[in-house]
Amino acid sequence: MSKHDEDIAADTRLVVAGRRKEWTQGIVNPPVWRASTMLFDDVAALRAAVKRPNDGLYYGRRGAPTQWSLAEALTELEPGAAGTTLHPSGTAAITTALLAVLAPGDELLMVDSAYEPTRAFCEGLLKRIGVTTRYYDPLVRGADIEALFSERSRAIFMESPGSLTFEVQDVPAIAAAAKARGVVSLIDNTWATPLLFPAISHGVDVSILSCTKYVCGHSDVMLGSVTAVPGLFETIRKTGQGLGHCVSPDDAFLAARGLRTMGIRLKAHEAAALEVARWLERQPQVAAVLHPALPGCPGHDLWQRDFSGAAGLFAFAIRGDDAARVRLVDALRFFGIGFSWGGYESLALPIDPERLRTARAWVSPGPMIRLQIGLEDPRDLIADLAQALAKAGA
Ligand SMILES: Cc1ncc(COP(=O)(O)O)c(C=O)c1O
Repeated sequence: MSKHDEDIAADTRLVVAGRRKEWTQGIVNPPVWRASTMLFDDVAALRAAVKRPNDGLYYGRRGAPTQWSLAEALTELEPGAAGTTLHPSGTAAITTALLAVLAPGDELLMVDSAYEPTRAFCEGLLKRIGVTTRYYDPLVRGADIEALFSERSRAIFMESPGSLTFEVQDVPAIAAAAKARGVVSLIDNTWATPLLFPAISHGVDVSILSCTKYVCGHSDVMLGSVTAVPGLFETIRKTGQGLGHCVSPDDAFLAARGLRTMGIRLKAHEAAALEVARWLERQPQVAAVLHPALPGCPGHDLWQRDFSGAAGLFAFAIRGDDAARVRLVDALRFFGIGFSWGGYESLALPIDPERLRTARAWVSPGPMIRLQIGLEDPRDLIADLAQALAKAGA
């Protein structure tokens, strides 16, 4: 199969992607190749390898078929991409991509709804090396997009929807405006994954995933990826290599295994999350539900236009105070309390996005809780939420 065989469906692509015979040797899953040292037949072979260090076995940090196969599979999910680099976490993928495209004196445009460690990187290391960050309203549309850019703007970063507040961005318009000015566009595409939103074919240059979430899907691996268009892929690869990034073959194996079922898992997450979200909307104790597939969510029309489905992560706000929110979350039986998401198990997390925002103030409709809806039967989850809402006394 070619890298971007256009005529096969996404679910088929998930099954066949990256499984080159030379890497699998006929085994269904590319096996775990553990390696640091790779041995060369003679000095001539070593010298030839030094000239092409990214082509074939070279040194453990450059990976082996286990990692190459995963990277190729992720590239195949993003039509128009030149390649994918793997990183030890989603955060490492984000920071590497930003370091690769920015230089001292540049300005970065960062969406105000970005994941907190992404903001922290802008305010920390990027500031220290002389990159300034200007935060912009995730709901910017039309002519206002053009007005975002300054002479010093070198890159614009999106996260759509935001993983706390769920505003959907006009990604194609922002990417097109960036391209017209020679500004690099990047997106944290972890919520949708390329299955629900192939970012590069929507005009984005760099599509970043925390594979820790839906790709791995079982809450037991940390891993990130950066998939990029020709020209930028090489720069990002060099930056990741310069930083010494590599991922273990065991983690790459687990991620590749998770990837094969990501399509059906996402469909199950979507259906159950929508059922729970629609039920929550009808509860008198609930002040608002923020789910991109529901009309009340800012940018819902863009989700309808650009996305082929929804993931299992959304938020809601209760009527009541923080104490009621704590009682609610503590009373839940099937929802773990934890930060990550994208695994098979449901999670609930109290969130306070207003403390992060600087470009457009976030006014919470009430104390907010983010839910990750897992693969449990949604009827059990709804019953659980019903008893917890009653206990909260919100
Ligand atoms: C939207 C988003 N992007 C990136 C990350 C970072 O991923 P990792 O935990 O793999 O560093 C997270 C983690 O929660 C996230 O929610």
